Amino acid sequence: MRDAAPQTIRLADYTPYPFRIDHVELIFSLAPTATRVLSTLKVTPLQPGTDMRLDGEDLLLIRAAIDGAPVSVTPDATGLTVPAALLPDGPFTWECEVQIAPAENTALEGLYMSKGMYCTQCEAEGFRKITYYPDRPDVMAPFDVRILAAEDGSTPVLLSNGNPTGHGRWTDPWPKPAYLFALVAGDLVSVDDSFTTRSGRDIALRIWVRPGDEGKCAYAMDALKRSMRWDETEYGREYDLDIFQIVAVDDFNMGAMENKGLNIFNSKYVLASPETATDRDYELIEGIIAHEYFHNWTGNRITCRDWFQLCLKEGLTVFRDQQFSGDMRSHAVKRIDDVLMLRARQFREDAGPLAHPVRPEEYIEINNFYTATVYEKGAEVIGMLRTLIGPEAYRKGCDLYFERHDGQACTIEDWIAVFEDATGRDLSQFKLWYSQAGTPRLDVAEAFSDGTYTLTLRQETPDTPGQTDKAPQVIPVTVGLLGRDGRELAPSTTLELTERTQSFRFDDLPERPVPSLLRGFSAPVILRHEVSREDQLLLLAHDTDPFNKWEAGRSLAKSTLIAMVTEDTAPSEAFLDALTTVAGDASLDPAFRALALALPSEDDLAQTLHASGVTPDPDAIHAARQSLTRAIAAHAEPTLSALYDTMAVPGPYTPDAKAAGRRALRGTALRLLSERDNGDRARAQFLSADNMTEQLAAFSALLIIGQGSAAVGTFYEQWHEDRLVMDKWFALQVSLAPPEKAVRACKALAAHADFDWKNPNRFRSALGALTMNAAGFHNPSGEGYELLADWLIRLDPVNPQTAARMTTAFDSWRRYDTNRQRLIKMELERIAATPGLSRDVTEMVGRILAA
Ligand code: BES
Ligand code: ZN
Repeated sequence: MRDAAPQTIRLADYTPYPFRIDHVELIFSLAPTATRVLSTLKVTPLQPGTDMRLDGEDLLLIRAAIDGAPVSVTPDATGLTVPAALLPDGPFTWECEVQIAPAENTALEGLYMSKGMYCTQCEAEGFRKITYYPDRPDVMAPFDVRILAAEDGSTPVLLSNGNPTGHGRWTDPWPKPAYLFALVAGDLVSVDDSFTTRSGRDIALRIWVRPGDEGKCAYAMDALKRSMRWDETEYGREYDLDIFQIVAVDDFNMGAMENKGLNIFNSKYVLASPETATDRDYELIEGIIAHEYFHNWTGNRITCRDWFQLCLKEGLTVFRDQQFSGDMRSHAVKRIDDVLMLRARQFREDAGPLAHPVRPEEYIEINNFYTATVYEKGAEVIGMLRTLIGPEAYRKGCDLYFERHDGQACTIEDWIAVFEDATGRDLSQFKLWYSQAGTPRLDVAEAFSDGTYTLTLRQETPDTPGQTDKAPQVIPVTVGLLGRDGRELAPSTTLELTERTQSFRFDDLPERPVPSLLRGFSAPVILRHEVSREDQLLLLAHDTDPFNKWEAGRSLAKSTLIAMVTEDTAPSEAFLDALTTVAGDASLDPAFRALALALPSEDDLAQTLHASGVTPDPDAIHAARQSLTRAIAAHAEPTLSALYDTMAVPGPYTPDAKAAGRRALRGTALRLLSERDNGDRARAQFLSADNMTEQLAAFSALLIIGQGSAAVGTFYEQWHEDRLVMDKWFALQVSLAPPEKAVRACKALAAHADFDWKNPNRFRSALGALTMNAAGFHNPSGEGYELLADWLIRLDPVNPQTAARMTTAFDSWRRYDTNRQRLIKMELERIAATPGLSRDVTEMVGRILAA
């Protein structure tokens, strides 16, 4: 099962596959523990005289033949080699039959079973668990698939990629890499619709779910149709098969997967009803449906040459789904949400032992590189490119990319070249964003005399594992200038920082301006700029850039909290007044106001303290955040109380952004008011809510103030039959528990009859939630670390991918005091010493410890 010596794979070692696969035919005979897979490949040798290597793992080889004649080959742990001597010099047919056991596949990679349903997950390297094949993205072929139903009658529905050609028969005419292969078989029902492309082709749309879930697909279907239209209007991309299908499965390691014509989704990103899904769930469904659909062009028609190029499809597709969500909802709110996520996950990654470039240069297990850096920073890099060259040139470059590379497996070089060709610009320095890890720091100095304002910017990127002495990058810094009275003296302009230190002049100013720097968060950098409280208050009140308006409030909140932690000061009246004013400012979008009232997370504060040389104390941070929350609640009580009443959304629930924004602000007000009314409003709302957004807002508020026990029981009674809602029930009790009770809560829930730990969603809702409760997880006794390590050791042999992802909870260990460091190190070493540990977890723990 396990590899003896895990190999490091290097970008520099890339060589093309010496064979072309002209056609793939697969015949599946389904059975839970003895599925037969017969594969017939049409192969053309490109370098005659070369051995043919095929990847394969956990396969029982039944027989193999070349041009109909049986051949004897001996598989090893990772595949098989057909010696050149057995291969014809010209095109030939390779046939092989293997047997696999989907019911025993708990890793959820390859062909596995979820609740009696057969399904697949092949990205990145899961196809090799289905048959022997060159399982690499640069080998692209058209596929024909035939599925023979399981004999027990459990699989009336038989699905695969492409267009249907008969019951259980599918043809995908577009050459694709094996990682986009999919098969689904089971007792499923579909919700059907259709879409007419701009050139007038009718596409059948189908969402497949388990019987009983048909009523929860409408929003996903609507999001799909809006995505299809958007890709036509914004990128000129039309869909290319007669049918597009989505299947919802309960057991899934990731969020969703873009298999050609047959996307497979974690059911939490498809199923929604007002009673069971929150506004946030609806928003995620919309974004993820769009993301996977957009991959049809950015990922599938044009794929990656090798897995080092992962950001070519993921960074670009995240950027596209962010643009889409902004267009559907609010650009300002979407940008703030995306930056919050970028800072929480990617800046954290960049600051620790797991830092790596957007295009990594080596890996042991590729599954460990589906990271915030590849995804979120990868998307930021595309956003910067668009900012630098402008939207028209960006569209021109994209058009050229699709025209030039359709049907190919590409590299970042190909991507950059289309923009160089479309604009005539040299992007070689810009390309450093793909190879240099770490978050650049931007130091700011200002000077003003005789109406001239000079801004001097200095960039520096800290060392990261394996990388020192980084060269200056191209950093687009969007800037506006405000006057003392708050009016705009200079509108937004984008400065291009290319040197280590560079000055920019603004002439003919009537007075010394207040700069609004990095508007729209124009680059993923850390701005180090001493701004007086007075100037921050001015920006919060008057900045015309919504992102920086929010950012000013955030900086104030952050410096207030840091001072509370380190100097035990009280929050200033000026800050509390300003926050109250924003909260009550009816000219502002309620969703924006909700974001402005949200305080920086405990992890964000720990990260910031550590960066400024202070060892973070999780308990002190928790206490400070709690006391600021109470101070805001006390100061703003009348405003919050009015908001709670006026933000109520009349009429039946609708998931649109406007209604969701009002609920978000009302929910924030409720949370704060619970500190004043002992949970009275929350208790009433919990019982009367007719939608999950409001029920959960009330439940959360009660849990935070320690008044949740009755609600815990009621909620369970109401929802215990709904898996997705129960995931929330598990997660909130752990993530919102008071720090000293978090580990106990997690342990108790892990012993609950409904804790199905082999289901990744459920595992994450207990153990993942523990890692989100910063002060609880970092309990100085070390019991949080021990509990997580126990469970990761238990999960690893069952599902190494999900176990490996969660080891990242330990990646910030060097931030903390020596006692916590010692305790975490002990647990990491205990995990590392576990016999038979997977390659996935071995690599992660090794990298985290190496720091
Ligand atoms: N291609 C990925 C799914 C994937 C990830 C497969 C890792 C195998 C390993 C898919 O397009 C994706 O990126 N999904 C994200 C959600 C998306 C909205 C960012 C996910 O599953 O988290
Ligand atoms: Zn993706």
